[in-house]
Amino acid sequence: MRLSTRSRYSCRALIDMLINGVEAEPVPLSNIAERQKVSEKYLEQLFIILKKAGIVRAIRGVKGGYVLAKRPDEISMGDILRLTELDISPVKCSKCERKEECIFKDYWDSLGGKIKDFVNSITFEDIRQRAITIKVGKEPIGKMSISEFTKGIKRLKKQRDAVILVHNYERKEIQELADYLGDSLDLSRIAAKLPEKVIIFCGVRFMAESAKILSPDKTVLIPRIDAGCPLADMITVEELKEMKKKYPSAKVVCYVNTYADIKAESDICCTSANAVEVVESLKADKIIFVPDKNLGNYVAQNTEKEIIPWYGYCYVHDLIKVDEIEEQKKLHPNATVMVHPETKPEVVKIADYVLGTGGMVKLAKSSDINEFIVGTEEGLVNRLQNENPEKKFYLPRRKPLCSNMKKTRLKDLYYSLKNMQYRFEIADNVLKKAQRALKRMIKIG
Ligand code: 13P
Ligand code: SF4
Repeated sequence: MRLSTRSRYSCRALIDMLINGVEAEPVPLSNIAERQKVSEKYLEQLFIILKKAGIVRAIRGVKGGYVLAKRPDEISMGDILRLTELDISPVKCSKCERKEECIFKDYWDSLGGKIKDFVNSITFEDIRQRAITIKVGKEPIGKMSISEFTKGIKRLKKQRDAVILVHNYERKEIQELADYLGDSLDLSRIAAKLPEKVIIFCGVRFMAESAKILSPDKTVLIPRIDAGCPLADMITVEELKEMKKKYPSAKVVCYVNTYADIKAESDICCTSANAVEVVESLKADKIIFVPDKNLGNYVAQNTEKEIIPWYGYCYVHDLIKVDEIEEQKKLHPNATVMVHPETKPEVVKIADYVLGTGGMVKLAKSSDINEFIVGTEEGLVNRLQNENPEKKFYLPRRKPLCSNMKKTRLKDLYYSLKNMQYRFEIADNVLKKAQRALKRMIKIG
């Protein structure tokens, strides 16, 4: 059996969309064609097949293109091969006259079955994770060497009077350059009282934006402007305003994983580290909680107040399955399970601890527990292992990876400092209201 170029390019195009696209934003075929060095016309034919089969959806308009119509873990390599190949069995016995007495028939059938099982077992989420991991190992960094970039970053940081804040999920080499490495809450608190003129935030956009809201007079830079958070994109101001109209007596708590306009429409922000305390601090029985349904559910389990959740979710945490945690528990029966509250309720239920990334760092350091199963993004394990070299940390077999957190590489940090890019500017009226919601949260802890 030889796979046709149709199959191979369909697979390549889908993984290109996943790796290079910004989640939920349409990817133009011309961009994929350019990166994959194939004609756009050819891709158009393939995408007609993929669209008909419900694998992709076309979005019209100036900013149009294609988005996946299913989650990447719901599309298998087998699905694509079945669409693009007439037959993927290596030998066709059906028309053979000797098939009854053929000694090889069972072998060929079994080989066909194995190929089928193999291609069905590989999902595009598996391939995406592999693609990211391989890129982590072989960073294409142009003509400068890693040590030249590192030296350059340190030199420019001094020249610019800059400080580097890094979230716990960032790549290892970025974590190593952090002046402050932390969770969303730590980093917001730190950003509010830094003496340096320039804050460079290695994380996703809502985090750097929060730093700008808390330090409006400073220059706040993010090395990759395309490092978004799909969860933050799951609610719009119009939708939040509708919710407020529907529940006029309710107070609004927004997770920091939101943009400034949502924060500006909220009474107070929270992070995964303080969500329950924030909700408890409010003098209202009804709370609109946006945008993460899993964190909302976790809060609801830990308060008497009525939580009205929005339906957003983090695709990285929502993908962690009970079976994957159970599988690690079987392999490591003495390990303690700690999971992020963005995971599904059934995963939270079987965990020993439900903590934000900062809480996990503290528990690993301060307790005498020696083995942990960690239900969060893989970047945190780098920090946990570094700070506790004698302890063991196990991730689910399909490592949870946030592609946006992995976008920032050494070269991006270097050019960010060199060219002072990408700056945040937020309209004054939005900034002031969002600042109030963030500051209220910081006061609580
Ligand atoms: P923490 O606040 O726990 O660091 O989490 C941030 C985040 O984006 C989780 O997905
Ligand atoms: Fe957003 Fe999830 Fe990535 Fe956190 S891990 S930044 S919530 S997509």
